[in-house]
Amino acid sequence: MCGIFAYLNYLTPKSRQEVLDLLVTGLKRLEYRGYDSTGVAIDSLDNKDIVMVKRTGKVKVLEDAIKEHFSGGEYSEPVLTHMGIAHTRWATHGVPCERNSHPQRSDEGNSFVVVHNGIITNYNDVKTFLSKKGYEFESETDTEVFAKLVHHLWKKHPNYSFRELVEQAIQQVEGAFAIAVKSKHFPGECVASRRSSPLLVGIKTKTRLATDHIPILYGKDVDSSKASELRPHGQTRELPVLPRSDSTSEFMPEQKEVEYFFASDASAVIEHTNRVIYLEDDDVAAVRNGILSIHRLKKSLDDPHAREITTLKMEIQQIMKGNYEYFMQKEIFEQPDSVVNTMRGRVRFDGQSIVLGGIKDYIPEIKRCRRLMLIGCGTSYHSAVATRQLLEELTELPVMVELASDFLDRNTPIFRDDVCFFISQSGETADTLMALRYCKQRGALIVGITNTVGSSICRESHCGVHINAGPEIGVASTKAYTSQFISLVMFALVMSEDRLSLQQRRLEILQGLSKLAEQIREVLKLDNKVRELAKDLYQHKSLLIMGRGYNFATCLEGALKVKELTYMHSEGIMAGELKHGPLALVDDSMPVLMIVLRDPVYVKCMNALQQVTSRKGCPIIICEEGDEETKTFSSRHLEIPRTVDCLQGILTVIPMQLLSYHIAVLRGCDVDCPRNLAKSVTVE
Ligand code: F6R
Repeated sequence: MCGIFAYLNYLTPKSRQEVLDLLVTGLKRLEYRGYDSTGVAIDSLDNKDIVMVKRTGKVKVLEDAIKEHFSGGEYSEPVLTHMGIAHTRWATHGVPCERNSHPQRSDEGNSFVVVHNGIITNYNDVKTFLSKKGYEFESETDTEVFAKLVHHLWKKHPNYSFRELVEQAIQQVEGAFAIAVKSKHFPGECVASRRSSPLLVGIKTKTRLATDHIPILYGKDVDSSKASELRPHGQTRELPVLPRSDSTSEFMPEQKEVEYFFASDASAVIEHTNRVIYLEDDDVAAVRNGILSIHRLKKSLDDPHAREITTLKMEIQQIMKGNYEYFMQKEIFEQPDSVVNTMRGRVRFDGQSIVLGGIKDYIPEIKRCRRLMLIGCGTSYHSAVATRQLLEELTELPVMVELASDFLDRNTPIFRDDVCFFISQSGETADTLMALRYCKQRGALIVGITNTVGSSICRESHCGVHINAGPEIGVASTKAYTSQFISLVMFALVMSEDRLSLQQRRLEILQGLSKLAEQIREVLKLDNKVRELAKDLYQHKSLLIMGRGYNFATCLEGALKVKELTYMHSEGIMAGELKHGPLALVDDSMPVLMIVLRDPVYVKCMNALQQVTSRKGCPIIICEEGDEETKTFSSRHLEIPRTVDCLQGILTVIPMQLLSYHIAVLRGCDVDCPRNLAKSVTVE
């Protein structure tokens, strides 16, 4: 949901053109987060002003505009210290256009310019307040109020530091945000902050830093009631003057040459440095004279003294497309490896044991719980649907599966002896995070299942499992789904370790897991055949995907992939529901895909298949290798290897991923950046 990238080089000569290249490359890495419009801001040639270039559309459009704008030789002159900010947007307030693109500015003179991710929910109150002070607004964004608020504070407190101004401003805004601010009055400085929206700082130095920690500087105690004077019912009283945080202490040891990268996620900094600090909510990170400091206005009892510099484990190849046309295609084909990475160090096939280090201390407590709740959105929710039956079987507990948004709408009752799983690839999805906080407040045990180390859901969970699928850049989730699926299967196996009656079942699942990578490779060999099927389908308006039991989740997930990538209508239909309505859609022209495997619901699936064919439907069938009987019902089929019933969903979803991919390519859709969508949905 929007990507922020800011770069500051201190005593590290770089020309403006090099800085712009860095900013554009950073934006390209973040483009999957939002791609409606883009913008950059750098210093003017005389360093007295800020120059902005903004464009509607993707980063490539901005890149071309930058080339045109900054072509002169003077832009290739090295500058010792410089700070630039950049943004790629997923529109929330105001249509995608240059005016609404970020950076947003405080005034015509570009005193303060801001890039922002998230939503400032009280922006109308702040806007009313600032309008009365004479500010005129030029965009429809919530972000603009922040730039103007900082400007207003600067006029009021001309002796405040840049960091103090931003610190005061964030106390006045509500909602979720990550921001980076640049000012012509504070050249060579950057101030950034976050609340419920991710932001990290990458640090690159020639010599290793003398410390792995950045001490946090806390302000004096604040009367929090003062900070909210702006909030109630659009009142526009004078802004309170909040205490200033301590600015005398020493922070990071002085660096001679240093580069800082502020980014929404690690993929934008990994090619420059693997040393990063993940900012926490309400941290204000400021760079001045090349020194990074982290401030907080208030200190609570359990707040730490420092933020740790962590070393990213990510490899640069993981965020490159390699020989693939699209990230999504690469990620589909990575699944033989990503599923192994999810199990690595956890599943011992020889000893038939499983250890999930992140939750092992909590297993006794989980075994005593009243029920398990699995909560997520979109694809992550489907991984819960896919594994619910196995969890019920192996844990013998009631298992509820919930869409995070609906769960919140219903104010679902939650008890202290509930165990709530929050499943999220990004670990930042706002609805899932809100649901997590809701359950945590009510005393439930919170288990995070995420793919992003350091994400909000990771940090706010009591315990959890990293799915270790590696960075997923294509907006459509693929390898994260199969890894979430396996993580939940592993959890079910851990829960049933001491149940004698379940040992045979556990054994067959473990054997299934051990063969999975090889079987996924087999399924991926269907790629050409799937492409041919896609040619039959891509001009149609709709695709119905039917199945039941362990494969119902594949139907939902397949339909979601088709919708989001190809903009065709698609529906995942529980085959048992067919006769209760959807059968009316079936005729000789309606494209149908049916999953019919030799599992406990085979006979029921065959009934559904017959109901479809006897209405002249000619479905594509996904069936088991060598199942001649099922194949007689259609000339178009995809055969997948046999595995244990509860793992079938991993093998059946891959043809669906490939099918949606090929239909999208044939329809000329942008596979990695589907329209209107963005990865990591950090707004509710
Ligand atoms: C679909 C897709 C989305 C996400 C959903 C939740 O391909 O990617 O449906 O699954 O937005 O995102 P996470 O898993 O990051 O919480």
